[in-house]
Amino acid sequence: MVASSGSGQREGWSSRSAFILAAVGSAVGLGNMWRFPAEAGENGGGAFVLFYIFCVLLIGLPVLLSEVLIGRHGQASAPESVRRVARDSNASGGWSIFGSMGVFAAFLILSFYCVVGGWVVYYIGVFAADLFQTGLTGGAFEGREASDIENLLPGLFGNGSLMVGLNLGFLAVTVFFVARGISSGIEWVAVYLMPMFFVLFLGITIYGAFSGNFGEAVAYLFTFDASKLTGEVMLAAVGQAFFSLSLGVAGMMTYGAYASRETNLGETSGVIAGADTAVALLAGLAIFPIVFAAGLSASAGPGLMFQSLPIAFQAMPFGSLIGLAFFIMVFFAALTSSVSLLEAPTAFVKDAGKLPRPVATLIVGVGAAILGVLSALSFNEMADFRPLAFIPIFAEANFFDALDGVTAKLFMPIGAILTCIFVGWVADARLIDDENGLDGALHQIWRGLVRYVCPILLTVILLAGIFPEYAETVFSLLSSEPAAELGEAAG
Ligand code: TRP
Repeated sequence: MVASSGSGQREGWSSRSAFILAAVGSAVGLGNMWRFPAEAGENGGGAFVLFYIFCVLLIGLPVLLSEVLIGRHGQASAPESVRRVARDSNASGGWSIFGSMGVFAAFLILSFYCVVGGWVVYYIGVFAADLFQTGLTGGAFEGREASDIENLLPGLFGNGSLMVGLNLGFLAVTVFFVARGISSGIEWVAVYLMPMFFVLFLGITIYGAFSGNFGEAVAYLFTFDASKLTGEVMLAAVGQAFFSLSLGVAGMMTYGAYASRETNLGETSGVIAGADTAVALLAGLAIFPIVFAAGLSASAGPGLMFQSLPIAFQAMPFGSLIGLAFFIMVFFAALTSSVSLLEAPTAFVKDAGKLPRPVATLIVGVGAAILGVLSALSFNEMADFRPLAFIPIFAEANFFDALDGVTAKLFMPIGAILTCIFVGWVADARLIDDENGLDGALHQIWRGLVRYVCPILLTVILLAGIFPEYAETVFSLLSSEPAAELGEAAG
């Protein structure tokens, strides 16, 4: 047995199921409902989706277990937990650098996540007002042109003070719950809001499946076309898998630290990954049938949930009510995720500065507010600001997109590679065996994935995604015949 380093009076989840709900709450969020359909549509559907599922199983799940394991052993903020695992393995404390990187990245994600959270609040307002005006039974936005509905989002983007106000409002709610602590704040949100989310979500999915163009959506999401699987698509898929599972940036390490010794981490990781992936796929199966039935484009990207879906609600009976329910549900899911994004840096500031929780929460909150304003304004006032113009794959990105791109496509894969090397090669094997809750063959498979498969695969995907031209050359050299066929198919 390797002793755990807990200090006795630390905060923690009140039960194993509270941990699972909170972790599922962290994973399920805007990433599933908004980012997954957008990314799937922008990256051509089936190839992206199937590669995403492959990434969840082969990379996401093993990394998830590695992260909660580090957290549970360390019982502290992410960098400190890594340092304690390193200490108990006689390794260098310098490894804590990937914990610190993760905390920083979580802070960056929080800042733009709350901007999108603000849009969700706006749409709750829009549908509530519409329900009031047009009544219960008809479709939403009666008598209005589709272009009017589509223009709601650009209209919001054009109103800088409203964008900033909504962003700060969403952030303030997040700060409120995190400041209250683990069991009476974060856990409360998860225990009350996640079940409500699931009820509403099931209703919408069933509605989408029965009333939309379900067959076309299934074909779109699950038809594998190898020629569409480029380096960029692969990196986008792995980034989406990490974003959706809250991985690579200290989120799950932080939550793992509040788990009790009795929690079986292997089993719990399986539940978290399974629930998150199921919600993402079902969200795709709810949104795309409705979009196809309304004859709209699948590649609408970030506009899919905020523009295409509201147009589709227009044609539905009870449209305003369903729209209202939908955005309330997305709000719940987003809040249980934003609290986890805030908790990672808060735990760090609280530990490092020996500060009371509310003070630490407020410090991080103010920082996220300042960065968030820049993101909120990057859709109009600062639209021409290209902070990463010097990096080819981010050359076109505004401030918001740059933060999203850098965190999902650089911080997360790099953080995960370091996590795997640390857990697979550096940490004491007995300590790891002791924590992971896996036995026999499963243990061996997990170990092999963490030591070899994940770091190698991630490095290849990272390089292929950052240097797409080189990747294409290498791919065609590796397989000259299929490449020729690909060329023909594409041409
Ligand atoms: N997984 C969340 C979502 O899908 C977002 C999120 C919450 C997250 N916590 C995180 C992403 C930590 C990365 C790291 O909406």
